[in-house]
Amino acid sequence: MTTAQPLDFQAPAPSPLALLLLGREADPKSERGVECPGDLPAPSDPDLVERARAAKAKLGDKVFVLGHHYQRDEVIEFADVTGDSFKLARDAAARPDAEYIVFCGVHFMAESADILTTAGQQVVLPDLAAGCSMADMATAEQVAECWDVLTEAGVADVTVPVSYMNSSADIKAFTGKHGGTICTSSNAERALNWAFEQGEKILFLPDQHLGRNTAVRDMGMSLDDCVLYNPHKPGGGLTAEQLRGAKMILWRGHCSVHGRFSLDSVNDVRERIPGVNVLVHPECRHEVVAAADYVGSTEYIIKTLEAAPAGSKWAIGTELNLVRRLANRFAGEGKEIVFLDKTVCFCSTMNRIDLPHLVWALESLAAGKVVNRIEVDPEVAAFSKLALERMLALP
Ligand code: 13P
Ligand code: SF4
Repeated sequence: MTTAQPLDFQAPAPSPLALLLLGREADPKSERGVECPGDLPAPSDPDLVERARAAKAKLGDKVFVLGHHYQRDEVIEFADVTGDSFKLARDAAARPDAEYIVFCGVHFMAESADILTTAGQQVVLPDLAAGCSMADMATAEQVAECWDVLTEAGVADVTVPVSYMNSSADIKAFTGKHGGTICTSSNAERALNWAFEQGEKILFLPDQHLGRNTAVRDMGMSLDDCVLYNPHKPGGGLTAEQLRGAKMILWRGHCSVHGRFSLDSVNDVRERIPGVNVLVHPECRHEVVAAADYVGSTEYIIKTLEAAPAGSKWAIGTELNLVRRLANRFAGEGKEIVFLDKTVCFCSTMNRIDLPHLVWALESLAAGKVVNRIEVDPEVAAFSKLALERMLALP
């Protein structure tokens, strides 16, 4: 069900090529895996929608398709459920009867689904190259080295790791092993509160912005309570004294998509559209979040717009597939929704899952062939599960 673009949705100008190319090449070291090996149908095939429908019908209850809110419309159309990272993790765990979980999202989400589902279930990512550049910013080796630095500074014993869902299974396993929890953008404050009951400091991985925004905006800490650990510098670029004085040790990672929004974007839109409400994702930089009216996960963004009165105006700072879909959906209700930035801001790796990849994955499953299975090493999975279950049990 593709809807026409409403007249009042201003499509932003194209962004620099580099951003669009993110995730295009094969990179075996990346969390995102390698190029998709599949024999894909041509994007121009006029029967793709029909083929996806037929394969899904043939599979029936054997398959459960999950779709993250940043997925393309053509993919969302075939999702049994849509959600933010937290909701999708819960939904995957709640379907033990489905033999195949087709995850339309990115690699770390499919890994989490594999960890949370039963041994008999198989998780499929329609394109193995759909990863997350933020998750790639913290490798297992770098995090182990960081823990050594914290140990030398005498603070590891009182530090609890809290890792954003947007991290590899290895990082989740490290977190579980060291008594920490996973969080998403919808429960980060609860995760930090829990962690501060277990220890004195938090090592927050890998998104510095979510960590800082939650600590400062939501929990009233000061910017001085936070230090930034740079994995590319010896000792993280911090002294033992700085580590001892900090409450939040933030990993120097970020989302390149949300990094596009700036304070200028907020000021510009307020000038252009008087009375506009600025609603942004907490992966945005601190000055953007501080200047916004509302901040929350993709699910929160949708709920806020659902509850908004007719005639209200909104500038949204998150990925463009979602913003465009919401602008289309709410145009008929007289809610004006614009994109916060002036240039295109798709998540190119989320965008890798398109209809040809989905058709290929579904038709292969329907023919009895499991393709692009995401399978986490059992030891890594056991420790990751510990951390994920701590998150699912958060009060
Ligand atoms: P949520 O959907 O959990 O808000 O996360 C956004 C995101 O960046 C997923 O990669
Ligand atoms: Fe990763 Fe950012 Fe894309 Fe989310 S939007 S999957 S954090 S690169």
